[in-house]
Amino acid sequence: MDKHPLARLDRDPRLREKLLALCRIGPGEIWCEGRDGHRVGCLDAASSEDVLRLCGEDRASVAVHDLPYNFIAFDQKNIDEFIAWCRKVVDNTAAVLAGDSGLYLWIGADQKNGFAPLPELMLMMRDTNFTSRSFITLRNQRGYGTQKNWMSVRQELLYYAKGKPKFVPQYTGIPKAVKGYYKALNGRLTENTERGRAETIRAGNVWIDVQQVFYRMEENVNGCYAQKPLKAIARIIEASSSAGDTVLDFFSHSGTTLLAAEMKGRRCLTMDIDPLYCEITIRRLEHYRRTGRTGWQNSNPFVLELGQTGEENE
Ligand SMILES: C[S@@+](CC[C@H](N)C(=O)[O-])C[C@H]1O[C@@H](n2cnc3c(N)ncnc32)[C@H](O)[C@@H]1O
Repeated sequence: MDKHPLARLDRDPRLREKLLALCRIGPGEIWCEGRDGHRVGCLDAASSEDVLRLCGEDRASVAVHDLPYNFIAFDQKNIDEFIAWCRKVVDNTAAVLAGDSGLYLWIGADQKNGFAPLPELMLMMRDTNFTSRSFITLRNQRGYGTQKNWMSVRQELLYYAKGKPKFVPQYTGIPKAVKGYYKALNGRLTENTERGRAETIRAGNVWIDVQQVFYRMEENVNGCYAQKPLKAIARIIEASSSAGDTVLDFFSHSGTTLLAAEMKGRRCLTMDIDPLYCEITIRRLEHYRRTGRTGWQNSNPFVLELGQTGEENE
């Protein structure tokens, strides 16, 4: 099998230059999909004007933002500057969320730097009209680290509410392991597993059943460096919106939220400041509609234009 991985697009200026010529939208432009009304904008999440242009009159049930974490893969700003920027993004989001809606923020915590920017972001959020609802940890299956510290295996996700949003409990595929909790019903002693509405355990605020994306997975998008798992985004969308609702994501990158919205029958309004990631987002949706595949495990979104061939070449 031919394999066509792609370098991280943010780190290869010559490849970037070549691929930029293939992008169908540039800064300030919005791609509108005809069938379900999804939109992808090459826009700036910190600009209230850009956010209003993307959303028009539409108001969303939920926003799922995967902020650049301000360390590791991302440029590092001064922390006050970073938090002021986050505040703008949050205010812009509040303006286009429905009265009762949810806001999910993925954020990192740098253990080499007082866990920044997680605590600063939490404090900033206290100063908004959102109310805190949950602090979720996604446990990565693969970790990184040294023998001199605890292996790093977590991703943090904050859940906030505007008004009183709907919330539909989600179930994992993990069977209920602990039996007991006896209770008499109609004169008979019953176990919790008999009384429960589901065979499997409910997703709590620690998710151990979601695999983070790596190159061996079908949903992997070569060229991207910060992809979130489809399963996690789909879980959020199903918990916090209904079929036909609008979902927001201002940091699209590989287009995970758009694809999850498509799969779950929601409309997605998304943006990325970088035209390359906007193009990848659009191509990922088109690729899924054409092939049923969620990514390019052994290939990449530009395989044809790069003159590469392989089993995923269409
Ligand atoms: C952490 S990644 C998002 C990953 C995404 N959740 C996924 O699953 O692929 C952050 C993205 O935000 C984009 N970005 C950075 N600053 C932005 C801004 N001001 N407005 C919109 N997008 C921005 C970057 O280009 C990058 O693609």
